[in-house]
Amino acid sequence: MIKVTCIVGSARNDGSCAYLTDAFIKGLNGKAQIKKYCVSDMDLHFCKGCKNCYEMGECVTRDDVQSVVGDIMTSDYVFMAAPSYWAGVPAQLKALFDRTTPYGDTNPKRIVNPKDGIKGIAVAVRAGTRQAENELIISSIEHYFGHLGIQTIKAISVLQTDTLSDLLEKNEKIIAEVTRLGEDIANNRL
Ligand SMILES: Cc1cc2nc3c(=O)[nH]c(=O)nc-3n(C[C@H](O)[C@H](O)[C@H](O)COP(=O)(O)O)c2cc1C
Repeated sequence: MIKVTCIVGSARNDGSCAYLTDAFIKGLNGKAQIKKYCVSDMDLHFCKGCKNCYEMGECVTRDDVQSVVGDIMTSDYVFMAAPSYWAGVPAQLKALFDRTTPYGDTNPKRIVNPKDGIKGIAVAVRAGTRQAENELIISSIEHYFGHLGIQTIKAISVLQTDTLSDLLEKNEKIIAEVTRLGEDIANNRL
């Protein structure tokens, strides 16, 4: 069975990113081993910038990062959805990115490597109308994926969505697209 790890990269575990993640999981239709995390629910500490991981290949801080990144690195697919917070990813998700430094390809001493051929899906959600801002969020997720050897196979941008009601009222097509993506993965079409 394929393994899929889903990361809700929002400070809210019940907002639009969470809804889109659940829509994707619905499409998987029980045909995958699914791990779902919301960064707001994680025991997640900031990177201290000590660079100890460049010597030891491990982080000096022990929290949920080790198990979440462990799931990411052993998945076949990683789905990550994040809102724009001041044209960047939320601080909680950025903390996860920073804390993944022991496991990224820039770390010469990494002792745990991601599995080959992981595929990634990046979703960006914002209140405003300019696509360019969501490109920043997508680039940030793609950058993270890239350093873990994860190939982005799909990027989805959701505009004019400040609340879950906005998502449900204005973006029905995107919700359906995300569910279809899950179905395609479950049926080996992606
Ligand atoms: C602290 C904060 C900063 C935000 N900054 C922006 C922004 O710069 N641009 C934008 O379009 N929306 C911004 N938003 C709106 C969110 O992107 C929007 O509410 C999104 O739908 C939240 O997704 P969620 O429901 O998954 O949490 C911000 C929201 C918060 C809470």
